[in-house]
Amino acid sequence: MSAQNIHIDSYERNWMIFSFVLLVLFATAVSVAAFGMGIEVPAPEQRVDPNTVATDPNSPWSNPGLREISAGKYDAYILARAIPNWEYLPREMTVPAGSSVSFYVTSSDVQHGFMIQNTNANFMVLPGQVSKLTVTFDKAGTYNFICTEFCGSGHGVMYGAITVTP
Ligand code: CUA
Repeated sequence: MSAQNIHIDSYERNWMIFSFVLLVLFATAVSVAAFGMGIEVPAPEQRVDPNTVATDPNSPWSNPGLREISAGKYDAYILARAIPNWEYLPREMTVPAGSSVSFYVTSSDVQHGFMIQNTNANFMVLPGQVSKLTVTFDKAGTYNFICTEFCGSGHGVMYGAITVTP
């Protein structure tokens, strides 16, 4: 039997055309986003050794917390850990309103999350990688942050807060 004799129902052919058009549309959308608009998937800011990140004196996470870089600009080094008792170090930070805070968050054990309420900060925290995001806190108030990845029996108590003073 030659190829010409194969009958393709018009209904089936239309769906084949439709799925091919969809494929081209999606490939175009991804190409435009990646090359035209420069949108990239999150890449690790930095690699670290999760076994020594909390203890190496040269590691900023051996002394986690806020550092004021210049007026109104801060770096916040935060260590997320399940061992020994599910916590962020530090658990609480205070900055004045209008501050821009760059968060550098890593884990010394398992996968955690980091989500700050009422901001666009919401990312995964992986052992061996540093997740970075900058948030500007324009309004005074309390911004709670919580772990968004199930990380064990203490997952529910893994939280902290940023206080923004007027
Ligand atoms: Cu850490 Cu859930």
